[in-house]
Amino acid sequence: MPSLPPGQNPVPDGRQSRKAPERILITGGAGFIGSHLCRRLLGDGHEVLCLDNFSTGERGNIEELLSNRSFHLIEHDIIHPLRLEVDRIYNLACPASPVHYQRDPVRTTKVSVLGAINVLELARELKVPVLQASTSEVYGDPSVHPQVESYWGNVNPIGRRACYDEGKRCAEALFFDYHRQYGVQIKVCRLFNTYGPRMHPQDGRVVSNFLVQAMRGQPITIYGRGVQTRSFCYVDDMVEGLVRMMQTDPPVVGPVNLGNPQEFTIFELVNVILELTGSSSRIVFHPLPEDDPKQRRPDIALAQQLLGWHPCISLREGLEKTAAYFEQRLRHGAVHGFRPERGLQTARVPPSTDSGFQTTVPNSIEGGKDETRIHIFGDSDFGPCHDGVRKARGGAPDSPGACGAASGCAGAGNRAP
Ligand SMILES: NC(=O)c1ccc[n+]([C@@H]2O[C@H](COP(=O)([O-])OP(=O)(O)OC[C@H]3O[C@@H](n4cnc5c(N)ncnc54)[C@H](O)[C@@H]3O)[C@@H](O)[C@H]2O)c1
Repeated sequence: MPSLPPGQNPVPDGRQSRKAPERILITGGAGFIGSHLCRRLLGDGHEVLCLDNFSTGERGNIEELLSNRSFHLIEHDIIHPLRLEVDRIYNLACPASPVHYQRDPVRTTKVSVLGAINVLELARELKVPVLQASTSEVYGDPSVHPQVESYWGNVNPIGRRACYDEGKRCAEALFFDYHRQYGVQIKVCRLFNTYGPRMHPQDGRVVSNFLVQAMRGQPITIYGRGVQTRSFCYVDDMVEGLVRMMQTDPPVVGPVNLGNPQEFTIFELVNVILELTGSSSRIVFHPLPEDDPKQRRPDIALAQQLLGWHPCISLREGLEKTAAYFEQRLRHGAVHGFRPERGLQTARVPPSTDSGFQTTVPNSIEGGKDETRIHIFGDSDFGPCHDGVRKARGGAPDSPGACGAASGCAGAGNRAP
């Protein structure tokens, strides 16, 4: 389907947000997609509050942003209520790969469900839009192909993936109930497989797995016979879609699929990676994990129509950029064994006053010298709040946007499909 002509497009260019600087909260901002979104929004001239508990995200993903005066890091666990002054909220906080979300499945459900309630309560109180990063996993092992938003899915509610799939489904239900019941401005996006630099190298997802194995000359592990299909969306394209969705008019609530409709078998993906890396790794086959979907491909007609969006980065181009990232990490020895979950260590800072708790937000990685204090008000445990967020200092962003300039894509909707 062709893109809408610019005049009819509710979001003709995702970069129009540059005109009106806002204060934007990104939960899960230190994760793979979140860290790209942080850069993109800083590049667009916004002030970014990156909230994360570093359970699956890495500090290295946002380290270079800590010196940016428009960037603020808040270490907080989204399962606890939060109170901040912001103009928009992107809710990305959630472990996203099976190896991460199955490690503590009860907690995974809490992150999706309680996290959704907490960001929705904040959006309700502030009367600001909130975007939910939902997932193609809400379709389960789909019997409709490609997946359209009207399809209700085929999810095993008691399987090992249910903590993630059903958690995200419940979060979607909450978003729509807060919208209907309280009039909260919601934007629900269903993200399909996304890949790119700053993916966690040990997250068990096919792209990172295959690239790291190929580069190390290790056997490539294919689960099943490799005939199951996936579609892979480069992260710059995904971020562009999220930004465009956020900028739609209030009646646009979703759900809207975001992903790359080009479909590849796992075997095809392996072949491209082997060719690209020049690796002579052999292939070994393992049994398919429980409830692994056999086919996955988004129908993105709605995203094209509403957002004028479609992916513009080819698998090969995206894999080249991702391979360069992993190569650098491997060269610096930064791909080691599996990092243990650190979520429980993360700051729920004890009450600092009679009414709330506060987090110190260092603007440099060492902290201490140059810091902004951001108050996160307490929930009922801590009594009523009394204070506001101290407005962070202004200052020009020093980070380029992720999409557009970086990728040469001036906005997916501006290109012919
Ligand atoms: N990457 C994909 O292919 C994909 C596909 C569909 C949906 N999504 C969704 O997009 C979002 C981002 O995914 P990603 O691939 O960047 O994953 P990621 O694991 O790299 O990022 C998630 C971030 O959330 C943080 N986090 C987790 N639990 C938290 C908590 N309780 N409190 C605060 N922060 C917490 C993690 O530390 C991490 O930084 C997730 O919600 C995921 O479900 C991703």
